[in-house]
Amino acid sequence: MATLDYLGDWRRTHLNGALGDAEVGQTVTLMGWVGRRRDHATATFVDLRDHSGFVQVVFDSARGDGATHAKARPLRAEYVIAVRGVVTRRAPEAVNPKMATGEIEIQADELRILNDAQTPPLPLDEEKTSTLAGEDIRLKYRYLDLRRPTMQANLRLRARATAAIRRWMDGHGFLEVETPFLIRSTPEGARDFIVPSRTHPGSCFALPQSPQLFKQLLMIGGCDRYYQIARCFRDEDLRADRQPEFTQLDVELAFPQAEELFAIIEGLMAELAKLRGVDVSLPLPRLTYDEAMRRFGSDKPDIRFGMELQDISEVVRAASFPPYQMALEAGGCVKAIVATGKADYSRKALDDFADWLRKDYKAGGLGYLKVLAEGAPSPLAKSLGEETARAIACATGAQVGDMVFIVAGSQAVVAASLGALRLEIAKRERLCDPNHFAFLWVTDFPMFEFDADERRWRAMHHPFTSPREEDLPLLAAGPEQWRWVRARAYDLVLNGVEIGGGSIRIHRADVQRQVFSALGFSEQEARQRFGFFIDALTYGTPPHGGIALGLDRLVMLLAGMDSIRDVIAFPKTAHATDLMCDAPSVVEPAQLRELHLRFDL
Ligand code: AMO
Repeated sequence: MATLDYLGDWRRTHLNGALGDAEVGQTVTLMGWVGRRRDHATATFVDLRDHSGFVQVVFDSARGDGATHAKARPLRAEYVIAVRGVVTRRAPEAVNPKMATGEIEIQADELRILNDAQTPPLPLDEEKTSTLAGEDIRLKYRYLDLRRPTMQANLRLRARATAAIRRWMDGHGFLEVETPFLIRSTPEGARDFIVPSRTHPGSCFALPQSPQLFKQLLMIGGCDRYYQIARCFRDEDLRADRQPEFTQLDVELAFPQAEELFAIIEGLMAELAKLRGVDVSLPLPRLTYDEAMRRFGSDKPDIRFGMELQDISEVVRAASFPPYQMALEAGGCVKAIVATGKADYSRKALDDFADWLRKDYKAGGLGYLKVLAEGAPSPLAKSLGEETARAIACATGAQVGDMVFIVAGSQAVVAASLGALRLEIAKRERLCDPNHFAFLWVTDFPMFEFDADERRWRAMHHPFTSPREEDLPLLAAGPEQWRWVRARAYDLVLNGVEIGGGSIRIHRADVQRQVFSALGFSEQEARQRFGFFIDALTYGTPPHGGIALGLDRLVMLLAGMDSIRDVIAFPKTAHATDLMCDAPSVVEPAQLRELHLRFDL
């Protein structure tokens, strides 16, 4: 056990990671946590960490009367210390090129041990953490995990991003307004988190899934340009890029043209990319939804690489190969992607692809053609005939050494399976440069999609999205025409991740009623759920539109992380729990009584 000291009147003069040549010869006072520590016969070396990085501190027995060296002996990992010493240049053989401060070290003269620490349950040494500590341990001891330089860098990048967002939005005349957390339950797609009211027994508030209606009400309220860095709550199945509570940059403008909004958001994206030293050239590319689905099999395509889907329906039509014929006769298609230089995928890898696509994407099968100099000896070439196989290679531009993957079926199944395979191959073959930021707008989404399980039409974006004016007659024409109604909706995509979505809104009560009715709400149901909003629309609502960007996803991609949990200080696990606070938890019976609640488990 070390004897602990008080800080006394010591003040920190420098951050550890910021020290360099310029400070050589200076006496400095540093503070931080003990990282790696090494003992030599006459000296103890300690890596001293703070949020800025590490510096090596040497406690040398030959320095002074040797008392500081002796005092350093009980130091252990994560002890909190303050050190006074002189910055010196390291001997050439002791320079550590892997360390930002690797050319210098601190010769310690005085040490104050400010606190001791239990042995940490996870290594805070950067390289080891990801391999040795499971995410559950990292989340249970998040306050320790946050000490790691990567996490510190992520939090700092996030703070710089929000500061840049505020500067940009303020500079473009947007008003920051806070909207409430306790609202009426108006589910937007996911389930609501419900908050029972104590003062109104039997009634509940809900936490907002997004400030959607409030930002529209602000436009009705004459605010003109609004933004908010808003916390949203959705009780939905989680994935690496989804959290039950997350943050949006929420934006709305009155009297907008989509072009105006695009320009503002594009400028902001370029500003944010600059935080990582990346120049984004503007304007950003755009694809319509139809084109994105046709070429990439996805409405959020990663355009950092090609491998586009190619329609080979006409090429294979003549070959009497039953699976393809059946697909074509049923109104479907046959499409292919070419994996350059991958004719050598093993049989096992190919079978695994096929099983996965069958299981997760309902693909009937996965055909493949190896393009080899002496012909195409894969089983599919035998079934299709050499001539068709050659025609496919020719139509898709496949070269010797390439592998052509083929899926037949409905447009939706083919797009989903080849789209997923395209991404999987890109991941395996490392086709994507993580430092390349490929932004893209996807526009002209369909207004509705048919939910086959519930046998009803759903809004593809949300019910407040405006149909295109020229498509309004289709809306009036009845359900057979609804699949052709296009929405004035757009998504912003970055490296294959949907980072934002928005639309020009419905601003007329009659159109809003029509859309509610198409979505299967009776007049009464619509009033019961959204009556306050329908009323508001009748008091002079200006045309308006906006967007919301997922801040966590955006910062995740800027930081080069794979999970949004890595850019949120205290995230929930994939099972929507907080392992650190152990939430959700059972509450006192008295609390439940006050809320007039009893669980029926
Ligand atoms: P949408 O539902 O598309 O639109 O959400 C906008 C963006 O928020 C991010 N996002 C999430 N991020 C983390 N975890 C989640 N569970 C999660 N859900 C969504 C995504 C998404 O693109 N009110 C509309 C916006 C509008 O029309 O203006 C809305 O919320 O990056």
